[in-house]
Parts: sequence; structure tokens; C-alpha cells
Amino acid sequence: MVKDDLKKIVDDAKAAFASVKDKLALNAHKANFLGKKGPLAAIMAQMKSLSVEEKKELGMLSNVAKKEMEDAYLAKLDELNEEEINKKLMEETIDVTLPGYSFNQGSIHPLNEIVMELEDLFIGMGYEVAEGPEIETDEYCFEKLNLPKGHPARDMQDTFYINPEVLLRSQTSPVQARTMELKKGEPIKIICPGKVYRRDADDATHSHQFMQCEGLVLGEDITFANLKGALLEVAHKMFGEKNEIRLRPSFFPFTEPSVEVDVSCSKCGGKGCSMCKGTGWIEVLGAGMVNNQVLEMSGYDPKKIQGFAFGIGVERVAILKNGIDDIRNFYINDVRFLREFKEVK
Ligand code: PHE
Repeated sequence: MVKDDLKKIVDDAKAAFASVKDKLALNAHKANFLGKKGPLAAIMAQMKSLSVEEKKELGMLSNVAKKEMEDAYLAKLDELNEEEINKKLMEETIDVTLPGYSFNQGSIHPLNEIVMELEDLFIGMGYEVAEGPEIETDEYCFEKLNLPKGHPARDMQDTFYINPEVLLRSQTSPVQARTMELKKGEPIKIICPGKVYRRDADDATHSHQFMQCEGLVLGEDITFANLKGALLEVAHKMFGEKNEIRLRPSFFPFTEPSVEVDVSCSKCGGKGCSMCKGTGWIEVLGAGMVNNQVLEMSGYDPKKIQGFAFGIGVERVAILKNGIDDIRNFYINDVRFLREFKEVK
């Protein structure tokens, strides 16, 4: 009797599960047939009044029935899941004939290109690349470089002040002082490329923001000859093996003696043309032997350690190498200009 009841329940459940079209309906049937208020639970509730033997048998039979219903439920669930996936796959077909997306590849900025070339050259000669803050203090930007407040040479480097003691650095030279303090009297061989700022009105040859690449070498036997050698390497690497350099006496408060360095004009080979204004030479950097005062201020003993420093104008090199006629081109982000520097591979 009970056996028949159970069979009917299982058949009804199977039929109900088979008839549904979605998971919501399937779960509703599951709750009806297998839940606490379902027909199976009702049969089990009768167990109390049965003998031990009968209980055993009913328990076994109802377990089989339960398992059968659960299997039917799971089979239907699988079926519905698969249907769902197939439907999604049908709906989300990819049209392989559609045109693809095109990605515009950028190019390395012409100034970064020069910095990378310089880094490559100097790292090859055993230099390290150092960095310093662009928002600098008056102390590091000027005072520690032998430019006390009121020094007339400050006029050439008027910059943007955040307050009387904090400014946008007008040169990369403060990195010299910072590195010397860090190295505490030890030898140094660094370059420091970076942005600098000055209060200049922008025109074809001036920009309120530009880049320099500082160099500093300190050691026991560093002489002016080493400086000249390093500068010649720069000229050869950046402009060509045939290029020569010319040193003219100059003045920087942090170097003594100081020089202005010209490279022979690569356009006319030194004969004189419009690029070199007829002189055959083009000025690219300032340099000199580090002033004893500067060494002492940063904890170096000039009797033991001396050396040289130089500051390369990155725009100047980029302009000369690429025949650019307006410095502002570097900063206005005109892609037509930047595209010119795209390497064709
Ligand atoms: N900092 C100097 C300038 O901006 C250049 C320089 C650097 C000169 C290092 C000598 C040594 O004019």
C-alpha cells in the first residue's frame, strides 16, 4: 500500500519536474515534493505508529523514493543549465567579419629620447643616474651651490617661488649638493637628468620649463683633463665621431674654473652656416671644476677629493640633432610634431 503511494509520489514528482521550462518552476516543485510539507514527509510522519520491522522497511523505501526524486530534480537542473548556456552562446555570437579596433601606438618624446641616449652613454662609463626634487629649497638650489641670497648670478636664474624658501628648481645642480650629503665624503659619479624652471617669457628659444642633464664626478685624482674627456664623449655620441669641442672661459659660482662648451656645428662641419650663426660652433653646456666652497659646504675635504660638474641643455641637444626651430614644440603636445619622432620599424 505504502509502496504504491510512494511510487505515485515519485511518478508525480518526475512528471512535474519534466514539465517545467525554467529553474524557478523546478525549484517550486522540488519544495512541494521534497519539502517538510510534502507528501513524502506526510508518509514519514506515520512512522511513529508502526512496528520496528515496518519502520525499517518504510524508512528504506522512502529513502529510495527520495533519492529517485532528487536525481530527477538534478537531471532536470542540468538540462536547464545547459539550455541556458546554449541560448547565451546563440545570442552572443561574434561577428568575425566586423573590422577590429585599431590602437594608436605612441612614440618616445624627443626630449626623453635624448635623456635615454645620455643615460646610455654615461651608464656605459660607470655613472649612476641620480634624482632630486623639482620643488626645491633655496638652500639646495642656490645657497649650497655658493649662490648666497643677493648674489648677482641669481638674476640669470629667476624662478617660480612657492614661498621665499621654496621654489621650482632653476637648474639640476642642487642634486650635486644632495648627493654629496648622501655620500658623506665618498667618491661620486652621477648624472641627473630632469626638469627645471625659470621665469622666462616663452618664445622660440625660451621656455619657462626645460630640461637639463647634470653630471658630477668626485674622486681623488679627478682633473680638468677628465672633464674634457667626458665632454668629448658626449659630443661624439650625441653629434657624431667627427665633432670637436671648444672650451671658453666662463663663470658659474659653483665651479672654478668654469667653461662654456661649444660643439662644432654638424650641419656645416665648422665652416659657418645659419644654424651656428656663421661661427662654426654651437654652445651646448656649462661645466667646470667643483668649487672648493661647494665641496666644503657639503662635507667634502677639497684637499683630498675634487672633481668636475657639467650641465647639458637637453632641449638644445634635441634642437640641434633634429633641426627643430622652436623650443615650444616640445611642450605643446601637438601629435603632428611628436609623430615625426616615431621610429619606423
Ligand atoms: N647649472 C648651470 C646652469 O644651469 C650649468 C652648470 C652645471 C654649469 C654644472 C657648471 C656645472 O646654468
